Amino acid sequence: MATSKRIVARATELRKLIGYHNDRYFGDDDPEISDVEFDELVRELHALEAEHPELVPEQSLLSVPGAPAATTFAPVTHRLAMTSLDNAMDHDELRAWGERLAKGLGGAPSRFVCELKIDGLALSIRFENGVLAQAATRGDGKVGEDVTANVRTIGELPARLEKSSAPNVLEVRGEVYMSKPVFERLRAQKLRDNEARVAAGKKPQPVPANPRNAGAGSLRQKDAAVTATRELSFWAYQLGDVEGVPPFSSHHDTLDYLRGLGFPINPEVRIVDSLAEVITFCAHWQEHRNELPYSIDGVVVKVDDLAQREQLGFTSKAPRWAIAVKFPPEERTTLLRDIKVSIGRTGRATPFAQLDPVVVAGSTVSMATLHNREQVQLKDVRPGDTVIVRKAGDVIPEVVGPVLAKRPKDSKPWKFPTKCPCDLRSTLVQADSEADTRCVEPDCPNQRDQRIIHFTARGGMDIEGFGEKTVYKLSDAGIIEDAGDIYALTAEVLLAQGFGEVQSANLMKAIDVSRNRALEKLLVALGIKHLGPAAAESLARRFGSLDAVAGASTDELAAIDGVGAVIAESVIGWFVDKRHRLLVTKLRGGGVRFDNVTIVDAPQTLTGKTLVVTGTLAKFGREEAERAIKNCGGKSAGSVSKKTFAVIVGTEPGAAKIKKAVELGVPQLDEAAFEHVLATGELP
Ligand code: IVH
Repeated sequence: MATSKRIVARATELRKLIGYHNDRYFGDDDPEISDVEFDELVRELHALEAEHPELVPEQSLLSVPGAPAATTFAPVTHRLAMTSLDNAMDHDELRAWGERLAKGLGGAPSRFVCELKIDGLALSIRFENGVLAQAATRGDGKVGEDVTANVRTIGELPARLEKSSAPNVLEVRGEVYMSKPVFERLRAQKLRDNEARVAAGKKPQPVPANPRNAGAGSLRQKDAAVTATRELSFWAYQLGDVEGVPPFSSHHDTLDYLRGLGFPINPEVRIVDSLAEVITFCAHWQEHRNELPYSIDGVVVKVDDLAQREQLGFTSKAPRWAIAVKFPPEERTTLLRDIKVSIGRTGRATPFAQLDPVVVAGSTVSMATLHNREQVQLKDVRPGDTVIVRKAGDVIPEVVGPVLAKRPKDSKPWKFPTKCPCDLRSTLVQADSEADTRCVEPDCPNQRDQRIIHFTARGGMDIEGFGEKTVYKLSDAGIIEDAGDIYALTAEVLLAQGFGEVQSANLMKAIDVSRNRALEKLLVALGIKHLGPAAAESLARRFGSLDAVAGASTDELAAIDGVGAVIAESVIGWFVDKRHRLLVTKLRGGGVRFDNVTIVDAPQTLTGKTLVVTGTLAKFGREEAERAIKNCGGKSAGSVSKKTFAVIVGTEPGAAKIKKAVELGVPQLDEAAFEHVLATGELP
């Protein structure tokens, strides 16, 4: 039966798209779509070609792993082809791979090696008689680009190998990448450069969107001196062409060998016995990928036994003995429909993007922050642009930048609005000294709602169930005008506003519980400018009640450790405002406790010592553990450094923290040892 026209047309279109995006990715280092979107195109073509073999051209695109090498560097023919890997998009596909292996070997492989899939650029580095002779990119797998001069600038690579152990020929394959801290510095520098350009009336230049693009761009500089400034890194993960190396029987032996020669081998590599353990490894890193100081986009699983690998062999495109398990993408492209501003509790106007909904890192994103006026200008994102959207872990999705190749011809730079979006349409002002633009109208309903939301939120009075929606509903109905009105609410009022019986009862219960919140929480909830949780704690500890804080002088406040003049002035100014005095009166009348001080003065055993808590402890909640440290005069930090006195390790600790502690020789303590340290200030 003749293949339908529609299918032929789709296959042609897919080939075109794949070819185009291949060029952007491999040739230009300027991809327009994410890896996963690219994979989706490839998969669709795969499926069509499998179903309609008559559609397969002599040289199918799908047998070519990368784009032809760019012409700006000399071509290098790989003596041993640099193949790509097949992908598994989920655990079912991984299991299907396991079944194929078992079929090919007549039983399950004896062992697997699990490696992180580094999101960088594949390199083959050739050492001849111990000397770095040539480095090449993958290119199309057969011919790559000669980047020897650039690769010689990578500090983590040995320039020559120990004479006594150097084989005649050693090709090391691995991934060159830019670490996240280096990328952030480079990006900040580029944004600063753009600031200067904009100030000088010049157009801003593209800013690298992610570490991968920045790394690839840095490696492929014509001038190796520029590459040298970019602090690129490298993980070795595979042998290429070799001569005179010892006989190996397993992949992990080859990694040990490379490590012995001085090549960086990723410390997270694990040897496991079963596919079930492979799945655990994948699930772990999918959850913890953001804790690593470099980007990964999946896990690579390899059969460890080299004889079994031999037996399995290769397809036309990839080895059968390895598979790349891809994580859901953290970056996608979508259409930016419009840019709007939202008004925060202090009146700050934050621009945000309204997007065509897109699934990023497993959840649908239709809005993303653009931070402030300057960021929009420096990234030069415009309504109508196709933009890259990123979501990493729990952070708010952000627009990384535009895809310039897709910008509509008639697009114009976006202009910051001059009026607040609220009903009062008050004027937005940018003070000379500030990056932020603000609505300065104290009656602005948007600010009022945000102040109430801040009051009821986690770090403040923590009124369960009293989120944004509840605040908007009651505020729109004119029932609450400030947070003080919350304590005059009754179940009847809530029912009359359309809340259900159970919800009303729960809200009333949660409001009642919050009447007894600790003083430092109440202070944070009030939203006094500059007063964060640490200073609020110091005030609570020193003064013991809200009235005592309100009655203190600027000098008394400023003298407190962690408070200082700026916060002191702000606190004094807050209590002077008559709206705030009314709020305090309402809170008092509503039965809110003003003197619940939970911080007791403990012996100062930890003065000058910094501790890090990771994982879940049995007796202490996270906040309690941190408070206990502070009560004893110590500091509780979020990351491990060589100054850390000890790391307190609960169940499911953060891998990065443990790794750092091991590297730096910082003691790791369990909960019992923690109690000992609190009591004595000494390690057990
Ligand atoms: S092994 C024949 N191991 O992923 C095996 N590749 O999607 C060759 N990659 O081209 C590759 N981390 O650029 C291997 N631990 C790892 C890797 C890794 C990242 C890249 C590499 C490869 C691509 C395949």
